[in-house]
Amino acid sequence: MEKIVINGGNPLFGQVEISGSKNAALPIIYASVLVKGKCVLENIPDVSDIRTSFEILRGIGAKIRMLARNTWEINCTDVICGESDYELVRSIRGSYYLLGSEFGRFGHAKVGLPGGCNFGVRPIDQHIKGFEALGGRVSTEGGYVEIESEGAVGANIFFDLSSVGATLNVMIAAATADGVTVIDNAAREPHVVDCANFLNTCGAQISGAGSDVIKIKGVKELHGCTYAIIPDMIEAGSFMVATVATRGSVKITNVIPKHLESVTAKLIEIGADVEEFDDAVMVTSGEHIRRTSVKTLPYPGFPTDMHPQMAALLCTAEGTSYINESIFENRFRYVEELRRMGAKIKVDGRIVVIEGGTPLTAAPVIATDLRGGVAVMIAALTCPGTTEIGQIRLIERGYDDICAKLRSLGADIKKITVPDEIPFPQAN
Ligand code: EPZ
Repeated sequence: MEKIVINGGNPLFGQVEISGSKNAALPIIYASVLVKGKCVLENIPDVSDIRTSFEILRGIGAKIRMLARNTWEINCTDVICGESDYELVRSIRGSYYLLGSEFGRFGHAKVGLPGGCNFGVRPIDQHIKGFEALGGRVSTEGGYVEIESEGAVGANIFFDLSSVGATLNVMIAAATADGVTVIDNAAREPHVVDCANFLNTCGAQISGAGSDVIKIKGVKELHGCTYAIIPDMIEAGSFMVATVATRGSVKITNVIPKHLESVTAKLIEIGADVEEFDDAVMVTSGEHIRRTSVKTLPYPGFPTDMHPQMAALLCTAEGTSYINESIFENRFRYVEELRRMGAKIKVDGRIVVIEGGTPLTAAPVIATDLRGGVAVMIAALTCPGTTEIGQIRLIERGYDDICAKLRSLGADIKKITVPDEIPFPQAN
């Protein structure tokens, strides 16, 4: 088993390049199942959710090969329907995009229910609502979601809430449907726009992505293409927050500043300086970092995926801060780990209350989930002493080479291998 060991207390200084977006790459990788040809995808991050997705697609007949470290060729000409590996599918969340692409290509889909970070119940009722509107007869039993139809047919869909996954899944299914689909109350995240742009590069006719109304004119066939994934706005935001938490100054490159606006605004509000360039931001902490209140919202609001990292930063701010988690019912498991490090933090309903100003202290902690793991890394970077972080595979699901990137900014950080957990003592 591996752990991350951090000796904190040093400000981060220097320059770091951000990788491609995991949450943009996943729908695009699964959308390539619609294409009977070769797609070359650039700026793909080397993270385990992506590697798992490649294994899932190889298992149904896709031919996938690496052309360069972050460039992959995917050929789904010969993929077969309904045969994806159940255990691999349930190990991540993004595998559920296979539903939309199998349905769109074959008129039929059979995929195990997805997994992903444990934030409480993560329903897929909006996905199902969309598939049924497109003419699918959806059943969920035995741990599988199955869609039967005579082929997807365009429809008007009004989502009950802003769902990134449902918007993407239905957009993928509708790309080659018979007729026009209009998705109302669509999610506006940059990765929705990225997937629409990828599909249009393959010959789809999608307009309105990035707004809350997306129009998809179904086309008969899609052709292969070469496409570069957008930079990861959450990785970028994580490094921005880590810079301020350690009172450092870092230039973060390969970003789209517009995608970071809500995080930038918050960091300026609490006393940091953020200078924007075409494809970079220069973040410099202020001497005094002030408290604030945050509410997580769908894009362009403050991202829920930045909530745990921001909590770690606000532990170092002066005063009492609040984070209102409006998206997920239970994204608070990281709080217990920060408390182990001396944080004065508690959860009141869906509000995290943070009393800043008390220096954190090093302690053995774990990554409770992907972003919770980065929150404890940021906390560890702020305090002198040795912090060991366990369950780091959860961090490696979504951050490409995070230790090397932080080390290049002056962090004293390394990975160590320790014997696997001692098996639970057997009854005599
Ligand atoms: C995607 O999850 C991301 N995951 C999440 O990132 C991110 O937090 C989330 O979008 C919001 O931005 C991937 O892209 C793989 P949703 P998703 O559908 O698609 C409810 C990370 O850290 N909902 O927008 O599951 C749902 O319970 C991960 O990278 C329904 O009720 O998010 C939640 O409360 C964590 N019914 C809210 O909507 C549905 O059918 C938003 O979920 C679908 C969702």
